[in-house]
Amino acid sequence: MDFSRPELFDFQGISMTKYHTDKWEKIQNFQARPNDIIIASYPKAGSTWLSYILDLLYFGQSSPERQTSIPIYRRAINLETNMSYSLPGSETTHIFRGTEMLDKLPTSPRLIRTHLPVQLMPNSFWEQNCKVVYVARNAKDSVVSYFHFQRMTLMFPEPEEWSRYLQRFMKGKMVFGSWYDHVNGWWKKKQSYSKLHFMFYEDMIEDIGREMDKLCSFLGLSPSAEEKERIIDSVQFDEMKTNDMVNFSGFVKQMNFKVSSFIRKGKVGDWKNHFTVAQNEEFDEDYGEKMKDSTLQFRTEV
Ligand code: A3P
Repeated sequence: MDFSRPELFDFQGISMTKYHTDKWEKIQNFQARPNDIIIASYPKAGSTWLSYILDLLYFGQSSPERQTSIPIYRRAINLETNMSYSLPGSETTHIFRGTEMLDKLPTSPRLIRTHLPVQLMPNSFWEQNCKVVYVARNAKDSVVSYFHFQRMTLMFPEPEEWSRYLQRFMKGKMVFGSWYDHVNGWWKKKQSYSKLHFMFYEDMIEDIGREMDKLCSFLGLSPSAEEKERIIDSVQFDEMKTNDMVNFSGFVKQMNFKVSSFIRKGKVGDWKNHFTVAQNEEFDEDYGEKMKDSTLQFRTEV
C-alpha cells in the first residue's frame, strides 16, 4: 500500500477511509479490559490535549521517562488506525495497527483513543463496563480545525476549497461521518451508560483546572495540588506546541508542517476568521434544523 491520500467511501452508513476500516474484524473483535480508559471524540475536538492530560495523571509520576521518549500517539493509541504503507522510493513497510499495538501495550490502564461513532464501537468496551471520556467541540471551530488538519495530513482526503469543504461538513461527508450524528450519538449514550464523562473543549479553554477536577472525580483520581499544577503547566497550548512528544512532529512523511501545525491555534472562535457572513447564516439555519431535537448546547465564544 502506497502512502497516499485515501478515498472517502460509505462504510455502514458512515463516510470512512481505508486507514480506519481495514482489518475491521480486528477492531470489532477487540478485547477490552475493565480498566481501559477510552478517549472518544469527533476529530479535532482536543483529544490530543485530553490524552496528554490523562497520560500525565496516570503515569506522570510513576514513569516520568515516557514523557521524553514515547510520542503521545504511542501512549494513547488510536484503536481504529490501520496503516500498512511504504513511502515512495523505499522498500520498507511501515505498520501502524491500533488493535495490535493496544494488545501489546504494557501500561495499566491502557489509554485508548477513538473517533468512531458510538454505534461502531466494539461491544467489548460496553461488556467490560469501561470508563469513557468523550470530548466535544462546537461545530464551527471543529470544521475549521478539521479543514486545516486535512490540508496538512496525507492520511485524510484532500480537503479542496473551503466553501465546498464546509458544504461537505454540513452533509456529513467527512471521515468519521457527520459531526451532528457523532456528538448526538455519544450524548445519547451518556444517558444510559453511567461510565461516560462528557467534556467540552470550550470548558477546557475556559478553566482547565476546573475541568481536570471534574475529570479526576469521574476517574477516582486525587492528584496533589502540586501535581495538578505541574500538569496544568505542561498542557498549556504553547508548551504542547513546542513539545515534540505531543505535537506529532515525528509524522514528517504523513504530515506537511509547512502547510499547518498539528497543534495549530487552540482558540474558541477561530471560525470567525473563516466563515463569511453568508456562510455563517446558512450554517446556523442548517444547524438549527439538524440539532432541533438535541439537548446538547455548545458555545462558539468563551
Ligand atoms: P485548532 O486546529 O483549532 O488549533 P485533536 O487533538 O482532537 O486532533 O484536536 C486538535 C485541536 O486541539 C487543534 O485545534 C489543536 O490546536 C487543539 N489543541 C491541542 N492542544 C491544545 C491545548 N493545549 N490547548 C488548546 N487547544 C489545543
